[in-house]
Parts: sequence; C-alpha cells; structure tokens
Amino acid sequence: MTTSTSFSPITTSDINNLMPIENACHSHPWSEKTFTSCIGGRYFGEKIEQQQCLVGFYVGEFVIDEATLMDICVTPMMQGKGLGKLLLNQFIQQAKHKGAVKIWLEVRAKNIAAQMLYMNAGFVETSRRTGYYPSSSGFGYEDAIVMCLSL
Ligand SMILES: CC(C)(COP(=O)(O)OP(=O)(O)OC[C@H]1O[C@@H](n2cnc3c(N)ncnc32)[C@H](O)[C@@H]1OP(=O)(O)O)[C@@H](O)C(=O)NCCC(=O)NCCS
Repeated sequence: MTTSTSFSPITTSDINNLMPIENACHSHPWSEKTFTSCIGGRYFGEKIEQQQCLVGFYVGEFVIDEATLMDICVTPMMQGKGLGKLLLNQFIQQAKHKGAVKIWLEVRAKNIAAQMLYMNAGFVETSRRTGYYPSSSGFGYEDAIVMCLSL
C-alpha cells in the first residue's frame, strides 16, 4: 500500500482537531485561545495528513526577514517515523519562500528528540535562557535553548 502524505495551511476551522495533538505533545500546551491567536497575520502554519488522517502540524511567525518556529508536533503514536523531519523541512521551505534569512526557535533543554531534529537540519545553539520554562515534571523550572538557522 502506498502512503499518501499531504500538507495544507492551518485555518481556524482546524483548531478543534489540532488541540488534541497539541495537548498530547506538550506538558504545558497552548490554550485554544493562544492557538487561535497564532493563525493569520504574521503567523503561518501547516498541518500534515497521512491517509487523510491528521498527524501533525507546525506554526511559524514571520517578521521583516526572520522567521520563528512557534510550535511543531507529531501525534505521539506517529512519532519516530520521519514526519517531524517532513514538517520541519516544509516550515523551512515556507520561511525561505517568504524571504526569511534566519530562523529562530526555543526548545526545552530536556527535549533531546527535538534538539536532534533541529541540529540535523543545521540549527545551532546561540544562547540559553535559564529557568525559562516551568519544568515538564511539574517541579521547578527548565532552561530554554535558543537555536538559529541561517538560510
Ligand atoms: C519533536 C518531534 C516533532 C519530532 O517528530 P518525529 O516525527 O518524532 O521525528 P522524526 O521521526 O522525523 O525524526 C527526525 C529526527 O529527530 C530526532 N529524533 C526523533 N526522535 C528522537 C528520539 N526519541 N531521540 C533522539 N532523537 C530523536 C532524530 O534526529 C531524527 O532523525 P533520524 O531519524 O535521522 O535520526 C516530535 O517528537 C514531537 O511532536 N514531540 C513533542 C512536541 C515537541 O517537543 N515539539 C518541539 C517543541 S520545541
């Protein structure tokens, strides 16, 4: 059987279907209100479907000539199958197309899977924000690693 994978822009009508993925992927997920505020205007995002089933998404922000990766998620059951790499590549291509010369992102210091994904795509660590995130374990705080990709 061939696997059909497709990308399409996120619209507000997708929120109800994207929130379960957001909630399953993060210890401190975006609220529906925050997610909705990151659609349109300077924000851009796409969802990925496999066999017409929603399996992940990304949200980016574009300002002047720089883009920021705000969120990227693959539904837990489908992680580790190359979909995160596909989403990140699509985000980078879209950012390039908009005229970005740099892409920024922040990632939890303990999120090794995401850091490996970004490093393999050419992102480099530029700084750390000490105690930036409430810890995913619920106790204390966790550093943010700031990463950048020059296009
Ligand atoms: C981060 C995330 C998007 C990656 O998606 P994915 O579909 O699992 O990733 P892929 O299968 O495409 O793997 C891409 C690369 O990520 C890295 N990676 C993925 N899972 C990993 C793991 N468990 N351990 C170490 N590296 C891992 C590897 O470098 C991998 O490349 P390789 O297979 O060539 O070694 C996904 O794990 C996710 O949704 N996590 C929860 C949300 C999140 O943390 N988002 C990032 C916020 S900054």
